[in-house]
Amino acid sequence: MNKIKIAFFDAKEYDITSFNKADTDSEFEYRFFETRLNIDTVRLAEGADVVCVFVNDDINKEVIDRLCEYGIRLIALRCAGYNNVDVEYAYKKIHLVRVPAYSPYAVAEHAIALLLTSIRRIHKSYIRTRDFNFSLTGLTGFDLHGKTVGVVGTGKIGKVFIDICRGFGMHVIAYDKYPDLNSGIEYVPLEEIWERSDILSFHCPLTNETRHMVNRETIHKMKPGVVIINTSRGALIDAESLLEGIKERRIGAACLDVYEEESDVFFNDLSGHIMDDEILARLISMPNVIVTSHQAFLTKEALTNIADTTLQNIRDILNEGRCQNELCYRCPDFSTCSKEHVKKCF
Ligand code: NAI
Repeated sequence: MNKIKIAFFDAKEYDITSFNKADTDSEFEYRFFETRLNIDTVRLAEGADVVCVFVNDDINKEVIDRLCEYGIRLIALRCAGYNNVDVEYAYKKIHLVRVPAYSPYAVAEHAIALLLTSIRRIHKSYIRTRDFNFSLTGLTGFDLHGKTVGVVGTGKIGKVFIDICRGFGMHVIAYDKYPDLNSGIEYVPLEEIWERSDILSFHCPLTNETRHMVNRETIHKMKPGVVIINTSRGALIDAESLLEGIKERRIGAACLDVYEEESDVFFNDLSGHIMDDEILARLISMPNVIVTSHQAFLTKEALTNIADTTLQNIRDILNEGRCQNELCYRCPDFSTCSKEHVKKCF
């Protein structure tokens, strides 16, 4: 039997490990490319049956046309988000599948790790004690118990985050465009989220509606000293306004796993380079800002689920012609698409 050839773009050492482990029956032939998929690199996909991509590959119209010319029938996203793919243009040309959920715990727990690190100054004390500096000056934190946390987006990750916060004895309020009214979560209007929260955490997708929802105006409505956590998508926050809010001492701390302009920076070792992004450089220089490099998903459990689901998605499309994780722009909400019309997208 011919093996299914998969070309991986933006492949990291942890992708290679998890996908090799997941191919238990040696059904697949892998080609791993470190480079991202874009119009300049697309020729590397020639000869493959499937391309497998991640959050910063650029799958625009031209790339889709070239993949079709090479006879490639499927783009398998090994992530949940798909804002980097021209989904509408792909319709009836090439199938798209994704991994809608792989570990909500990974992301929610990372959000909490950032929060605790920030408010208990662990990032500062770690550096001090390595230098045998055991002074506590400037390390005063605050209790989470009794604080109000505002959660924007109460889907899979938001709900896990809420459960953890309740364990700390925090008071949780939430906003969701589509609230889950049977969840026992206290939903309030977005205005109240800004006004009442001591801590804010974002777990909603990036859409035209949510882009820059944290901006100069909303920051001015927030409680002085608010702690902002973003593990969702960078562009939910207008980074310039965030920096301004920090400089004006309105914002107590920012914990960022994502950044609006991350695609040129994150996932790369730029330690020997001069940072061109002035806003990111300034944010990182702040004592009350913690930045991780889109790391929240990165647990063993999540990587195993990503590899297993991606390979199953590929088998489903190539062998059965349909897959429950297929993306189709015609459905009002991809996550609820039932494919009832024809039992497959096209
Ligand atoms: P989900 O689809 O389960 O939940 C998203 C929630 O946001 C839903 O309840 C939805 O109703 C709500 N929502 C939609 N539009 C909204 C709006 N305009 N305002 C407020 N809420 C809105 O998604 P999940 O799995 O919980 O993921 C949430 C986000 O986390 C993803 O969109 C993705 O951007 C991000 N993510 C980040 C990762 C990382 O490594 N940093 C890894 C995985 C996801």
